[in-house]
Amino acid sequence: MKKWMMTVAVAALALTGWQVAAQVSKGKTRPLETKTWMKTINGPHCSAAAKMLKGAPADDKEWADLVVHGQMLSEAGHVLMADGRCPDKAWADASKQLQDGGTALASAAAAKNVDEAKAALNNSVLASCKGCHSLHKMKK
Ligand code: HEC
Repeated sequence: MKKWMMTVAVAALALTGWQVAAQVSKGKTRPLETKTWMKTINGPHCSAAAKMLKGAPADDKEWADLVVHGQMLSEAGHVLMADGRCPDKAWADASKQLQDGGTALASAAAAKNVDEAKAALNNSVLASCKGCHSLHKMKK
């Protein structure tokens, strides 16, 4: 095989490899499936925060719980970017929105500011779920 043909073959392989590596439903090297994370972290922490913010957290314990939900959702935005899981810019943008929205939710909850907490949940956290799911949830 001529040298240039080798180069083309290697480049083609690398390209295919990259597509396989951008997993969406699972990371590249670690066993965590995306749906496992969604089921145990994104779903429960988001629902719990949304339920609390239908009205307002009732007492100090609930505000403290809301801080936890914000922290976990923020961290989820980082996990979704880890281990070669991110396939494209839409995924990266939604993950960044989740990082920032979770951070804003945690700060608002720490300050016991219900309006800011609602804004962080509705405008950033929920927008990030929707942004990513609309493009990637059905793709395997
Ligand atoms: C960056 C992309 C991304 C973001 C952001 C994201 N998700 Fe997901 N989510 C997925 C993908 C991909 C699946 C499908 C996983 C699969 O079935 O392989 C999924 C599936 C789910 C599921 C179904 C899990 C199951 O039992 O099969 C739930 C619930 C869920 N997401 C909740 C959320 C919530 C709530 C948020 C926002 C706080 C969120 N997700 C944000 C990508 C994302």
